[in-house]
Amino acid sequence: MRTPLVAGNWKLHKGPTDGRRLALEIRNGLLGRRLAAEVVVCPPFPTLAAVLEIVRGTAVVVGAQNVFWEKSGAWTGEVAADMLRDAGCEWVIIGHSERRQHFGEQDATVARRVRAALDAGLKVMACVGETLAEREANRTREVVEGQLRHGLAGLTAEDWARTAIAYEPVWAIGTGRNATPDQAQDVHAFLRGVLAGMTSVRVADETRIQYGGSVKADNAVALLGQPDVDGALVGGASLEAAAFLAIVDAATTAS
Ligand code: PGA
Repeated sequence: MRTPLVAGNWKLHKGPTDGRRLALEIRNGLLGRRLAAEVVVCPPFPTLAAVLEIVRGTAVVVGAQNVFWEKSGAWTGEVAADMLRDAGCEWVIIGHSERRQHFGEQDATVARRVRAALDAGLKVMACVGETLAEREANRTREVVEGQLRHGLAGLTAEDWARTAIAYEPVWAIGTGRNATPDQAQDVHAFLRGVLAGMTSVRVADETRIQYGGSVKADNAVALLGQPDVDGALVGGASLEAAAFLAIVDAATTAS
């Protein structure tokens, strides 16, 4: 039984003032709701402290959107895993396609970040996903398998207990064009099979695979109702409390 994992990736939105307000709305909105999902919000770095203060002691936990692999040193502009842990973060998103597209992220750097995050006691949402050109060339499986095998190589069963995979087709991110439930299910089941080969059937059965890419209140029930879709990584719709809470409700309904 996998508890659905619903995470809001705020990207480059919401400074501390706006972030505090949004976190408060989410926190208050969850009070008195039936909740069968794990709920994470991932604000930008300067907003982490404000959000952590608001959600402390509630069902909402906080994640960061990236992490560097070194622990300390002359690395201007970087943030270490121990620092995120010390700040109160539980999760970190690693290998998002926007990092891959715009900031040179590769499977090898994903792997280093994942190792550092897990070693520091963080939990990881590791993103994989194909571009439109790759999908149209029928390369989806090959691409996501490569990202999984190279970005998440060498993890122990214990590591996997703190790691989720986010399948995010690049063509669906921020486009309003979500993968259909069948398309998502197909890739999720494929990834679970690859994971079983890399680890064990038990680990693959227990690992959450989230879908991300234009998840909204009105498509969440169908997507999250798929047997291998174990939650969502939500961008745009996580910036508005009502929309995000509706997706959390969809995860509860689907579970
Ligand atoms: P979106 O973003 O929901 O705005 O498509 C998802 C993501 O990038 O994680």
